[in-house]
Amino acid sequence: FGPQPLLGRQVVITAGPTREPLDPVRYLSNHSSGKMGFALAEAAKALGAEVTLVSGPVSLATPAGVSRLDVESALQMRDAALGAAAGCDIFIGCAAVADYRPASSQPQKIKKSQDKLTVEMVKNPDIISEVAALAARPRLVVGFAAETQDVEHYARDKLQRKGLDLIAANAVGDGLAFGQDDNQLTLITPDRQLPLPRASKRDLARQLMAELATLLSEKA
Ligand code: C5P
Repeated sequence: FGPQPLLGRQVVITAGPTREPLDPVRYLSNHSSGKMGFALAEAAKALGAEVTLVSGPVSLATPAGVSRLDVESALQMRDAALGAAAGCDIFIGCAAVADYRPASSQPQKIKKSQDKLTVEMVKNPDIISEVAALAARPRLVVGFAAETQDVEHYARDKLQRKGLDLIAANAVGDGLAFGQDDNQLTLITPDRQLPLPRASKRDLARQLMAELATLLSEKA
């Protein structure tokens, strides 16, 4: 390879959290910072790719030369991701998509009149599974799995269930993953397993993108 093994390749990455509206002023969300997804976008760009970053609300600058689509809810992220992913070369689902959303968002601000408030939640669509099932499926569909226990077992299960080519598994806790600059990843494919030692998210992003460039060339 030359220094730009992804030259002319289209890479689509989801990043950050989603916000699930409760009413016009409130939402449910999570602590995802978007750092890993933004680092991946930067690394893919450096390898020559045309990169689209579908981002939930984060406070990060867009890497130079990367196209960014800003979304808030999981449903918005799904629309943007499916539109951008169809026919692309590599799709990476790095976003921490909310598993559930309030069944309905109230049109007016919820008043604090009752002592108890029950919110009914419904399941959000699994964006990466839908991308992997597209007729114009990306050539590589890559997911992340953050687990607190049995990391490899659960990651392998997700790889199969969601129809992915590779999953990057990381253990949550011990100052790793959410919001941190450092991470530890194990790259898992149907027939291989590659542990990457603890490193900065930028460093891990470069290693993962280099691995994906190799996988893509093997597929061609
Ligand atoms: O099932 P779990 O949320 O642990 O799976 C994580 C992987 O699936 C990540 O790649 C994440 O971006 C993706 N995902 C998704 N849509 C969801 C939930 C997770 O694309 N609704």
